[in-house]
Amino acid sequence: ALATSKKYLIDAQKNKYAICGFNIHNLETLKAAVSVAEEKKSPVILQATPGTIKFAGVNYLANMAKTASDEYNIPIVMHLDHCEDFDMIIQCLRAGFTSIMVDSSKLDLKENINMVKKVVEAAHAVGVPVEAELGVIGGTEDDLIVDEKSAVYTDPEAAVDFVDKTKVDSLAIAIGTAHGVYKGDPKLDFERLKKIRSMVDIPLVLHGASGVPDESIKKCIEFGINKINIATELKIPFSNGIKEFFKDSSNENDPRKFLKPGIKMMKDVIRQKIDLAGSANKV
Ligand code: 13P
Ligand code: ZN
Ligand code: NA
Repeated sequence: ALATSKKYLIDAQKNKYAICGFNIHNLETLKAAVSVAEEKKSPVILQATPGTIKFAGVNYLANMAKTASDEYNIPIVMHLDHCEDFDMIIQCLRAGFTSIMVDSSKLDLKENINMVKKVVEAAHAVGVPVEAELGVIGGTEDDLIVDEKSAVYTDPEAAVDFVDKTKVDSLAIAIGTAHGVYKGDPKLDFERLKKIRSMVDIPLVLHGASGVPDESIKKCIEFGINKINIATELKIPFSNGIKEFFKDSSNENDPRKFLKPGIKMMKDVIRQKIDLAGSANKV
């Protein structure tokens, strides 16, 4: 059966490592993530955005993940990423997702709190933990587009109040990362992270981890991040592998052949990210 993210993220918080949240889109990318996680003996969080739910179908995603959890001997979590829509959250709970991120970060603080409370109430009723976001993370993911000027860093005092009022299980914070690729290296506010970590006692989540130098990711984990979200750095090798294949074999039409190099290149990145997160040999 699928695992919930709760106890694995708490273990990560206690023992100062992080678990990767890998955004997946189909059977091939899902299997790439779980097979490497098993090889590394690492818990793994598979995550799908609302765009992916619309693309692949909520029941297909839940059932592929459930099948993986029967086939592989590691904890596998199926997580809904960045959902603003309450109805879709309920659909994912019903389909068997074992972790939910409600993203009402663009609403004002009071409305954000109310929305998260409502989701926490529903999800906790069926034993599913919830991640929420305070502050606004920049960049582009699916239909979620936040320009640089609209990004807002997480306020530590507000975070305490937010966690207290919502009873959320993990918190996504904005400290300078962004979705998608960066022009140059991102400047991260480590002091802010340390302050939030010293005041908030639940697992902390770093979004936009693709394109952040390894050294900065290591610092984030040292200073208290427990989940790192990676989408873009998986999409790039998956598509590059396929593009390269077609350069030499433009007449190939067998998906089993042309998807293979994409899967292989994606798996190499997943291996590196699990090592970087420090979640290998934690199961
Ligand atoms: P990247 O686009 O940097 O991979 O961010 C992924 C993410 O935060 C998914 O929620
Ligand atoms: Zn994100
Ligand atoms: Na990024």
